[in-house]
Amino acid sequence: MDLFRTKSVEHIAADAAGEGAAGDEAAGGVGRLRRNLSARHLIGFGIGVVIGTGIFTLTGIEARNTAGPSVVISFAIAGVVALLAALCYAELASSVPTAGSAYSYAYATTGEIVAWIIGWDLFLEFALGAAVVARGWSGYVGNLLDLPTAFFGEESTVNLGAAFIVVVLTLVAVLGIRESARVTGVLVVVKVAICIFVIVAGAWYVRGANLTPFIPPGHPAPGGGGLAQPLIQAVAGLSPAVFGVGGILTAAAVVFFAYTGFEAVANLSEETRRPGRDLPLGLLGTLGVATALYIGVAIVVVGMVKYSRIDEGAPIADAFDQVGLGWASALVSLAAVAGLTSVILVDLVTVSRIGFAMGRDGLLPQSVAKVSPRTGTPVRMTLIYAAVVLVMATFVPLGTLADLVSIGTLFAFLLVSVAVPVLRRTRPEMRRPFRAPWSPFVPILSAVACLYLMANLSIETWLRFLAWLLAGLVVYATYGYRHSRLRRSPAASDAPAA
Ligand code: ALA
Repeated sequence: MDLFRTKSVEHIAADAAGEGAAGDEAAGGVGRLRRNLSARHLIGFGIGVVIGTGIFTLTGIEARNTAGPSVVISFAIAGVVALLAALCYAELASSVPTAGSAYSYAYATTGEIVAWIIGWDLFLEFALGAAVVARGWSGYVGNLLDLPTAFFGEESTVNLGAAFIVVVLTLVAVLGIRESARVTGVLVVVKVAICIFVIVAGAWYVRGANLTPFIPPGHPAPGGGGLAQPLIQAVAGLSPAVFGVGGILTAAAVVFFAYTGFEAVANLSEETRRPGRDLPLGLLGTLGVATALYIGVAIVVVGMVKYSRIDEGAPIADAFDQVGLGWASALVSLAAVAGLTSVILVDLVTVSRIGFAMGRDGLLPQSVAKVSPRTGTPVRMTLIYAAVVLVMATFVPLGTLADLVSIGTLFAFLLVSVAVPVLRRTRPEMRRPFRAPWSPFVPILSAVACLYLMANLSIETWLRFLAWLLAGLVVYATYGYRHSRLRRSPAASDAPAA
């Protein structure tokens, strides 16, 4: 079946090296990205995109409504799931360093249509992520500077704040990967330093009484069931409940959002000087730092304030207000703004790399995938994606769509996890600078864990996600299928197609 044609690992590598897919004319001469990044830059980008809205908002919402102080366990569970997936990413990214990351791994293993779906899904993750966070940024800055709500924050019809930040960061992304790395680096230092401050200063105000009961007893969910209930509860016929052990797991699925994005590091593979060494370091380093900071911050927040009195909008800043440290809450807001800014920037950089890889393969127009010789970045692709993000961020209320980013990410992780044992079987001889330990056990566990967290997301999130994938299939049927480079130049495929 044409739909399942696979692209050989050698051609993916040749493309990444800018060799026009081993002399394949249909490669379209999109050019190559510039190799400028080291492990330090990668960890910077990773932390830049990971630490953002999640820790600054979801901690409060989930502690108060779903898990109580045991939201700390939810963060640990979500961190372990992310770590399992990161091990799989590290193996594939170091062995097949390509800007397409999960999209390209799927192309090499499960075939073109699955690769397309993943590319489409990653677009959802990074473009929607950038738009959601840009609106969050606008709300935060509007609040901080007392700007008119007509143009800043979720109630605005034309969100000028969101539009402003998307335009500024697009300019940075277009300038070059080194410039983006520099800006991200500064923002990351600010937010990590303030997170450490929160943990150290907050630790003095942690009271044992606030942490008991650590796992509040479960009870029926106040809003009842409907489309807002987790899929797994509906399928298993359980009545919707919050708190207790079930609450910890539901909250784990939601706070997983806080870990999303670390895999953006893999999309910078073609711009990394020593991919075999630096990509595993970048991926695992990012996750290690994020997990440690998240658990620390979560313990402090639920320890400073009784969970039933935690603020849902700005839990960390409010916790400091409640213990009488108002000045600290201003610092926290600064960290939040720095955090949100870098998330948007890395999202914009990443989504254009995925589009670039898809364009190179002909699944998107090749003419827009060209790398600018001046900046060494895919300028047109960046501008097109940024325009889409700009429209979404300026005009569409997206506050409720964060879960859609999580389900998209988990789906990509699921396929990456599956790709590890598949490639080990089909291409045992491939050089693997980093190997996920205990394969296939770890990759399978990772896949099951991702599926389980997906099942803990709401039915409405699933419905939206399926609608998005369906729309993707229509685009593939009308464009990608016919223009695919593999179709026009089967030499690049792993014949016979799987
Ligand atoms: N993980 C990122 C955040 O929490 C998307 O904002």
